[in-house]
Amino acid sequence: MKKFIIHGHKPLCGTVWIAGAKNAALPILAATLLTNQPVTLRNIPHLTDISVMYEILTELGCTIHQTTDGVTVSAKTINRQTIPDFLAGRLRGSILMMGPLLARTGHVRISMPGGCAIGARPIDLHIKGLIALGAQCKNSHGFLDLTAKKLVGSKIYLDFPSVGATENILCASVLAQGVTVIQNAATEPEIIDLANFLNCLGAKIAGAGTDTIMINGVSCLRGTNYTIMSDRIEAGTMLTAAAATHGEVTVLGIVPAHINPLTAKLREMNHTLQIEEDSATISAAKMARAVDIKTLPFPGFPTDMQAQVTSLLAVSEGTCIITETIFENRFMHIGELVRMGANIKVTGRSAVIEGKKHLVGTRVRATDLRAGAALVIAGLAAIGDTEISDVYHIERGYDRLDEKLRKLGAEIYPC
Ligand code: UD1
Repeated sequence: MKKFIIHGHKPLCGTVWIAGAKNAALPILAATLLTNQPVTLRNIPHLTDISVMYEILTELGCTIHQTTDGVTVSAKTINRQTIPDFLAGRLRGSILMMGPLLARTGHVRISMPGGCAIGARPIDLHIKGLIALGAQCKNSHGFLDLTAKKLVGSKIYLDFPSVGATENILCASVLAQGVTVIQNAATEPEIIDLANFLNCLGAKIAGAGTDTIMINGVSCLRGTNYTIMSDRIEAGTMLTAAAATHGEVTVLGIVPAHINPLTAKLREMNHTLQIEEDSATISAAKMARAVDIKTLPFPGFPTDMQAQVTSLLAVSEGTCIITETIFENRFMHIGELVRMGANIKVTGRSAVIEGKKHLVGTRVRATDLRAGAALVIAGLAAIGDTEISDVYHIERGYDRLDEKLRKLGAEIYPC
């Protein structure tokens, strides 16, 4: 199993181009099932999660043609409505196929996703929304069967603005008869990207990016060419790594408004940020001060940046509290950071961090994607060598992270 070795304590300096967003690419790839005409997508990141999504689409009958700068998916005929168990288990994002497959074929069968390293992650809101559109749902022997002769628009209130539930309902409702209104919808930029993509296919969606989305159903959708938005979490990870190593880094090809919740906090810590139209540059403070952070749905601070910022705060001056409100078990990285000398105590959903001047390299294990990124940042900042195992978690969501960091001067090597 692949590992990263990091010789730490070197400032990151330079410019890095940010890849397409995993969390936008996955729902958009799932949504290609909604049309029988070819769809070409550009700015797709090279990630294992994306490769698994291609495998699932192929199993369902789609043809996938990859080029250097994109992919063309053709879902002309769909000859299977079951998401194969061995692939669904490898990609949580496979639940995003429920809405599109149900809308296109009237049936979808998928094994119930279990919990994962960061929490229980139920899908009740996805199912509630699809049932409101007219689907029937059976849960037997761990498999979920959703069927619908016809989907009909409805008013759906989400108890929590779930990103995945909003995406599934959005995809199912574009082909439903009549009007659907999603209330308390997620407002994340990835929702806007999905809605823009669906509108390019001929869907009629208004209000994406606000908490009320209105969808006027259409009878069929066409093909299109679409460019996926850039990855705000990769951009945030690079800026945070630069801050933790006292470096100066520019992230290019981004939408600055998407990373505002992070850049606002970095400024509060005393780091200097220069924001341009499609880039952000951080010049790290000599001694950054600790700030409290609470994860919230967008435009609040993203849970997907909590682990990485924990590493930064572990080497900032002062004491602070991080509160994780989205996932109940997203502190797996903390035990590993403590092994590197961090002074952090977890109580329930809060972590109290007392900043230290340095962390010290040691052997640690990536337990999930963002926890892995947090350990990379800690290793880059730490004195001495850090060995990170189970790097496959990191490769699920970062496009050539080690290569990009080496270009910024980091000594990080796969082995
Ligand atoms: C998506 C992202 C993930 C990110 C998260 C929050 C993808 C592939 N994943 O995950 O990287 O961390 O948004 O920004 O885009 N919930 C329920 N019932 C449901 C659905 C969710 O109770 O039916 C709860 C979850 O347990 C969690 C909260 O809602 O506590 C947020 O989950 P959600 O926004 O759905 O996250 P995901 O779509 O799974």
